[in-house]
Amino acid sequence: MMQSHHSYFICGNFMTSGEDKRTQAIEPRLAVDIGGLRLCNPVMTASGTFGYGEEYAPFVDLNRLGAVIVKGLSLEPRAGNPPPRLAETPCGMLNAIGLQNIGVRAFVEQKLPFLKDFTTAVIANIFGETLDEYEKVAEILTAAGGVAALEVNISCPNVKKGGIAFGADPEMAAEVTGRVKQSTNLPVIMKLSPNVTDISAIAESVEAAGADAVSLINTLTGMSVDVERRKPHLYNMTGGLSGPAVKPVALRMVWQVASRVQIPVIGLGGIMTANDALEFLIVGAKAVQVGTANFVDPRATMKILDGMTHYLRKHKLSDISELIGTLGRL
Ligand SMILES: Cc1cc2nc3c(=O)[nH]c(=O)nc-3n(C[C@H](O)[C@H](O)[C@H](O)COP(=O)(O)O)c2cc1C
Repeated sequence: MMQSHHSYFICGNFMTSGEDKRTQAIEPRLAVDIGGLRLCNPVMTASGTFGYGEEYAPFVDLNRLGAVIVKGLSLEPRAGNPPPRLAETPCGMLNAIGLQNIGVRAFVEQKLPFLKDFTTAVIANIFGETLDEYEKVAEILTAAGGVAALEVNISCPNVKKGGIAFGADPEMAAEVTGRVKQSTNLPVIMKLSPNVTDISAIAESVEAAGADAVSLINTLTGMSVDVERRKPHLYNMTGGLSGPAVKPVALRMVWQVASRVQIPVIGLGGIMTANDALEFLIVGAKAVQVGTANFVDPRATMKILDGMTHYLRKHKLSDISELIGTLGRL
């Protein structure tokens, strides 16, 4: 069960052309170690944008992904917010899905068996409205087997503290980290909210509480208005902004956090192309996640992976680690 701690997850062969086969000897090494989670490459899917994996299996060879991160899971099933739940914005989208999901038990029974047939790492994204809920969801997934790591969404309201997001306060973020760490022996990735004044302070706090890695960013809270009707586009009034519009903000935050913590940083936010992903690696991310791009092109992750390999070859880098955190000064 603890395969993730001992060996690298194996990726499917992704040689595509004759040229690739001839250059096989100098194929760059893409494997990365994320706090004990060993991935065959640094490209993962962002939670909530890739369903439970099976929805994308007709388009993507799941075995080629560094990891599949599934839609956020809660203790009980959730219907999410009433529609409309999506709104397009210039260079991005707003979503107010409201963390709709089938609940952790149904995930283990109905969705996890499909994913276990692949060699790629499965990362379960979890959330709760109380510390107890986070703990129970973590316990159920750990006991299930077949999950390589937990990614903890802290951009959710703490019901007991009047609805302030867990991720908006260093102490609350540390409390969630501690409770989840106590409930599992899997690597724990804390997913940080960008809706804070100082994201580095939150990152340092979860690191001190035992996080094995951090991922950032989750969506930025936004809204949009239909001026003719003078009504919001989303039933929920506000939603989470994602896509290319958030990339510069995400990149800046990843760069800041990577310079402040020792644990691995996973970068995401608006990654649409291989170059976008490379920017995150250069500023210090050890791996990346692809989110909204999956809606635009279901094969985006595959193209990003191919582009990354091409870049390493072109720049004669034999290992992805030679690129990570190598940002220079002008
Ligand atoms: C429709 C949708 C659903 C999402 N659901 C989740 C979720 O369940 N848990 C979570 O941690 N993040 C969720 N996110 C946030 C994404 O994982 C990601 O952090 C964010 O969209 C920024 O990356 P992107 O610009 O590449 O999409 C969701 C995003 C979208 C667009």
